[in-house]
Amino acid sequence: MTNTPPLALELRNVHKRFGQTDIIRGTDLAIAPGERVALIGPNGAGKSTLFNLISGRFAPSSGQIFLNGQRIDGKQPFEINRLGLSRSFQITHLFAGLSVFDNLRCAILWSLGYRYSFLRFLAHLHDVNARARQLMAQIRLDTRRNVLAANLTYAEQRALEIGVTIAGNAPVILLDEPTAGMSRSETTRFIQLIKEVTEGRTLLTVEHDMGVVFGLADKIAVLVYGQIIAFDTPDKVRANSRVQEAYLGSVVADAPAEGYLHVRN
Ligand SMILES: Nc1ncnc2c1ncn2[C@@H]1O[C@H](COP(=O)(O)OP(=O)(O)O)[C@@H](O)[C@H]1O
Ligand SMILES: [Mg+2]
Repeated sequence: MTNTPPLALELRNVHKRFGQTDIIRGTDLAIAPGERVALIGPNGAGKSTLFNLISGRFAPSSGQIFLNGQRIDGKQPFEINRLGLSRSFQITHLFAGLSVFDNLRCAILWSLGYRYSFLRFLAHLHDVNARARQLMAQIRLDTRRNVLAANLTYAEQRALEIGVTIAGNAPVILLDEPTAGMSRSETTRFIQLIKEVTEGRTLLTVEHDMGVVFGLADKIAVLVYGQIIAFDTPDKVRANSRVQEAYLGSVVADAPAEGYLHVRN
């Protein structure tokens, strides 16, 4: 008998209702450890809501969510984080008045369970500084070490947020529109960075731009009106007639040279 490892993330028939409105309408998803999955879908499809359900900000109205085989629906965000899931937000969450280095150190200390204990802080200081330096290099902000988060460029802030998200070494990473508001060239560079820093981890990322995800994702999940209508490799999703009908109908295939499809918002 073989022992297959548990799925990194699994959703079983998840529903979420706000008042009278069904936003998530029976979503199933099974993501294997180390898989990179892009969640795409039109505005208002429920992508951020799904992230909020997975990360514990909201409890599902019904259904079950598992992280590494462990039931997490209904748990608090910090509990789910401790169990190995870390997420970024669509809107940047950084300490504006702290430097790059100190934002990363805070994230690392928090992940170590540091609770305002000065002695514990001192015991960890050396390791924390080393890890913060390593993260700064990974997110290519090592020359910006002492710059306040508020004074970084927008793209640098997004990079710092990725650093904060991966600081605790969580095996499962959720990124909500990490490239939102970036130019094409910034986006291309940023996707490469995400690819590097999430190497070996499980990644679920929300994207608007189909072109962006083709270079990054092993699989694409298409969410339309609260339901996942396709979950497959990028090529198969692109060829899926249901996806074309429901989602890519609003899309133009205008860059055949790159094989990219661009969403028209
Ligand atoms: N806390 C909430 N209360 C009520 N409605 C919400 C809440 N959060 C999201 N919604 C609604 O759920 C729908 C999906 O939103 P969202 O998950 O943000 O979509 P997406 O991220 O795919 O653009 C929208 O119609 C939004 O107005
Ligand atoms: Mg959203």
